[in-house]
Formats: sequence, structure tokens, C-alpha cells
Amino acid sequence: METVLAGSWNLYHKLMSQYDDDSIWIKGNALFRALECRCTATAEHSLVVAYRSYQLSSKSPQTYKIRNLIFLAGLLHDIGKLSMADDVLKSARKISTQMDFEHLVNHVTHGVDLLNKLNFPREIIEFCQFHHERLNGSGYPNALSDLSWIGKIAAVADVYSALKLPRLYRPDIMSDAQILAFFKAQPGAFDPQIILSLEEILISSTQNNSHDELLIEEVNSHVLG
Ligand SMILES: [Fe+2]
Repeated sequence: METVLAGSWNLYHKLMSQYDDDSIWIKGNALFRALECRCTATAEHSLVVAYRSYQLSSKSPQTYKIRNLIFLAGLLHDIGKLSMADDVLKSARKISTQMDFEHLVNHVTHGVDLLNKLNFPREIIEFCQFHHERLNGSGYPNALSDLSWIGKIAAVADVYSALKLPRLYRPDIMSDAQILAFFKAQPGAFDPQIILSLEEILISSTQNNSHDELLIEEVNSHVLG
């Protein structure tokens, strides 16, 4: 757990320093730091979502700029939780009532509204909008089944991070193997190609201690280029 968080922070610092004069990244970082002040656990969850999403998008033919935007999207995907009451956001109990569920659904719509008002790029808004949707239509807020590649990555990265990091209502965390088994036990909900990519990333992270250094090297090579 410490490793994935440390790797996520490393990539965060590297990308933020690369975009320190870019208005989208400056306002995105301000929102992320505000979220961290409000709820550290939600910020750390978002950081790991950003990190795994960046790695997953590297497995498809996206430009370097788009992959970086996907990282920023991960940082901001739960920004609507800024509007969530403390007794839901920081509660140790599981979601159980209709009102709890409405709060949960609203964090997506509030997040999309906020990101739209602040003129964030389409990729970032799309990531926020679709991260709780599922390919079999069982997700929320709109029970959509036709997801873009960004939505498919967002859904997998969000669940990975939710299971990997401890929550107040679920202090036990899962190993990477348990998380992969969890995904595979739900055929139809997640994109099988993305799950395969996640498996490759997790195996490579386990076998290669310098995996994070390779990611940072890649970022550096784009700075120099
Ligand atoms: Fe969320």
C-alpha cells in the first residue's frame, strides 16, 4: 500500500513541476490540495486513481499530453465530494439509506458541474462523469453501458484504489491478487482488456522494483524533448 502511494506522489510531483505554468494544472492542483485539506483519505484515493489511470492509458495509443491529462482527471474525479456532508464523507458506517445513496450519486453530478464551470478539458469532465458507471449498466448516476475508453479506465482505476487503500468503513485492504480476482468475478461490468492491462502493470510492478523509476524517466525524457 505504501509503495503504490509513494509511486503516486512521485509521479504527482514530477508532473506538477512540468506543468507549473499551465493554468489547467494550476487550478487542478489547487482543487486537489483543497480536497486533501477536507479529507486526506479521499485525496490519497484520488492520487492512486490518477497513478493507475496514467499507467493504464499508457497501454493504449494516446499522446503523452492526453495521458498526463488522464492523471489530472484522476486527481479530480471525486472533487464533488467537497460538497458531501462530514457524516457521509468521513463516516465509518457503510452506505445504507436512500439518502446516503443520493449523496453518493450527487458527488458525481456536483463534480461534473464544478469542472464544467471551471472550463476543464473534456477528458477530465468525462473521467469524473463516468467513473461509477459500469459496462453492464449497473453503475450510477445514469446506468450507462456505452462507455468511452476514458470511462472504462476511470471505472477500473477507481475500484482498484478503493480496494487497495483502507477506508474508515472498511479498514481491511486487499492484495493485488485479490483485487484482480474481484474484477474477474464480475464479467460484463468492466472492460476485459483494461483488466488485462492492469494485471500486466501489477505483475511488472512486483517483478521490477525500478518500475516507478522507469515512469519518471519517461516523464523526464518528454521534459528534455
Ligand atoms: Fe467517486
